[in-house]
Amino acid sequence: MTKQIIDPTAPETGDSMKTAQTLADLRATIDAWRRQGLTVGFVPTMGALHEGHFSLVRQSAETADRTVVSIFVNPKQFAPGEDLATYPRNEARDLAMIAEASCNLAWLPTPEVMYPPGYQTSVSVSDVSQGLCGASRPHFFGGVATVVCKLLNQVRPTHAIFGEKDFQQLLVIRRMVRDLDMDVKILGGPIVREPDGLAMSSRNAYLSAEERRIAGNLNRVIAEMATQLEVGVATEDVISSGRKAIIDAGFPSIDYLDIRHVEDLSRAPAGRLLAEARVFVAVQLGRTRLIDNWPAAPKP
Ligand code: PAF
Repeated sequence: MTKQIIDPTAPETGDSMKTAQTLADLRATIDAWRRQGLTVGFVPTMGALHEGHFSLVRQSAETADRTVVSIFVNPKQFAPGEDLATYPRNEARDLAMIAEASCNLAWLPTPEVMYPPGYQTSVSVSDVSQGLCGASRPHFFGGVATVVCKLLNQVRPTHAIFGEKDFQQLLVIRRMVRDLDMDVKILGGPIVREPDGLAMSSRNAYLSAEERRIAGNLNRVIAEMATQLEVGVATEDVISSGRKAIIDAGFPSIDYLDIRHVEDLSRAPAGRLLAEARVFVAVQLGRTRLIDNWPAAPKP
């Protein structure tokens, strides 16, 4: 009889994806991998997954020996009156799709596992959480920092990957990891877009057909703004023409439209762009909040 040789560093196939719903199950798998010296990539999500998420899972599978994806709709990052109850959920499809994208372990904590009775701790990251999304959703980044801190402690990954569509969230998490001396590398994954350029988002499912048509213009406006910045048009002029273009495209109002430096989200001053920045936008379209951003480099 021939002996089967198992290479513990060989990536597990999609068929063998495990799921864990308790900390004990999660730890048993992670501990076994760590004993074997395997690297672990981690993609935290709230489910209702789309190609943007799958690209992060593939990015992890290409760079780590094992990949963990968490699916947890985190109540702490929704304010009363926001869409916690109606947030899209489709766990069966999500699990099939991440298995296909080479995820090895799906971490599926319940709210009771994440926040058991008596839970009291929260994490807050100050400056970088202010402004942009932090201005209109003041509860949001505290909820994100708290759950991501817990998820990173639970999974103990080598690196964790977050989409750049939520660029402020990425910087909040980087700051938290640095400030709390957490031993994990935080990576960004590029924004994945629909054919008309709309940034993929689980909440795009809320858009009516007419809203969906209008939504496709948002990325075009901020891409054009980035082009203007790169040819030397003053930041204040770029913002005022961008605001007009967004309203002309059919968006009823603008939550924010701003040009911020990529390192710390400080506002780019008036005049020509002098340091690497991004154009950041958020709009409300019916019941859907859309956010997007586009990179702009200063003219050499
Ligand atoms: O970006 C998300 O989906 C969530 O904010 C995150 C990072 C999974 C925390 O709940």
